[in-house]
Amino acid sequence: MRRYLFSETRRFEAQPFDAVVVGSGIAGLYAALHLDPAMKVAVVTKTGLDGSSSWQAQGGIAAVLTDEDRFQLHMEDTLRAGAGLCDEEAVKVLVEEGPRDIRQLEEWEVPFDYDESGRLILGREGGHRLRRIAHCDGDATGRETTRRLGQLLSAAGFVTPFFRHYLADVVTDEKGVCGVLLYDEEKRTWRALATRHVILATGGVGQVYAHTTNPRGAVGDGMACAFRAGGRAKNMEMVQFHPTTLMAGEVDDRLFLISEAVRGEGAVLRNGRGEAFMQGKHPMADLAPRDIVTRCILKELRRTGEDRAYLDCSHMTRDFFYHRFPNISARCEKEGIELTRDFIPIHPAQHYFMGGVETSLTGETAVPGLYCCGEVSCTGVHGANRLASNSMLECLVFGRRCAETVKGAGASSVPETLAVAGDGRLLSLSPEERRQDRKELRKTLSHAFGPVRHTGEMQYGLAKLSSLADKYDHVACADPATMELCNMTTVALGIAKAACARKDSVGAHYVED
Ligand code: SIN
Repeated sequence: MRRYLFSETRRFEAQPFDAVVVGSGIAGLYAALHLDPAMKVAVVTKTGLDGSSSWQAQGGIAAVLTDEDRFQLHMEDTLRAGAGLCDEEAVKVLVEEGPRDIRQLEEWEVPFDYDESGRLILGREGGHRLRRIAHCDGDATGRETTRRLGQLLSAAGFVTPFFRHYLADVVTDEKGVCGVLLYDEEKRTWRALATRHVILATGGVGQVYAHTTNPRGAVGDGMACAFRAGGRAKNMEMVQFHPTTLMAGEVDDRLFLISEAVRGEGAVLRNGRGEAFMQGKHPMADLAPRDIVTRCILKELRRTGEDRAYLDCSHMTRDFFYHRFPNISARCEKEGIELTRDFIPIHPAQHYFMGGVETSLTGETAVPGLYCCGEVSCTGVHGANRLASNSMLECLVFGRRCAETVKGAGASSVPETLAVAGDGRLLSLSPEERRQDRKELRKTLSHAFGPVRHTGEMQYGLAKLSSLADKYDHVACADPATMELCNMTTVALGIAKAACARKDSVGAHYVED
């Protein structure tokens, strides 16, 4: 019998839907908008629209949008950043279909930045040979895109939103997916939706690390649900660390990003003595792919004994910087950083997860009726290291593809009730014990499975995470807080096992010894 997190055995009356989308970032919203308006669709999110990683995204969306660019160039840059582990067919789909999805966003009036002659203003980031990144309000692409897609979804009559609903499990029967079990955080009650098609767009896992740019909800619960339902894990060892997160003011577990687009406009990384250190390390220097820049920063900090590096933006005028990066400017100003005079203190932190639930190019997983898109999925486009600003592009292209697959599958009957088999013999934990376990998990993962790894530390980390995951296999889950932690142990163990199993050192899985 398969494991469900909900620990009682119970049968729920279920509300029927043709499709359920879980997640309210760009992948989920874009997928929902591409479903057939004749369908009855539910969109479920444990937060509001502003709780996703998409909402935070600064840089923009990469695509071939000018005559001087070519699909071949974008493909080559993606494959090079991916360090030989990308699925070439998936990259071809991403790159060749991407421009059409950007045009769709333009048609839907996503407020991209345009020059006076009406052309998209394009930015550049690490690993890209040329400018190909469309952006909104300078450095608020995610917020503006999500907001607009959210407006369109509210206006679309065929979608029922379930805000503040936590996904406890994807429920399956002998035919595959038959629904989802949710916890309504406002009414404090369980709710079941019956459907034969679930699109998971639940985002990443950053909160399993001690320092991340990801929002608080990014604990990997969609991913763990998919694994419990029978989805296959792929490339779980591939965790991306962003080179430049802000080290000023209150530095807590959620760090503020200083977009790579800032280096795209010429900012230079320096050590505490003001020395630039990326020259000679890679032909693209400060704009090398981000796994390489991250490791160079950490090496430089080790060499100098310092705890942070710096971004020098002093060649930009105040006006230019404030106009191009309004969000970053506001945050720096709040921290008392005067950009024309001071360097911005930075440190790498977890940012993105290249691994996830294995999908086909049409979004299908190993479970009939379960589809994944965005960061929860592993389509193969990112390989061992994602190229900057390819993530929102992936959300669009593969979100749309998931919707097309669901539309192509046609209508099927759904059950009136959902049955969940629980296990009444499980342990209960105190909030304090859970807090300690969460802390231990994040510390272990950060220490043993960070941007620079060592065999002995990985083995030690694997043993610790295995015993934690084993404990949580026997814990009663009757509330989202315990469920989140249980899901975190699943994801953390997946990362540890995959990292220990990989015999080569490649891309983001960099093993020093
Ligand atoms: C950034 O703006 O540096 C992040 C964009 C991305 O993660 O691709």
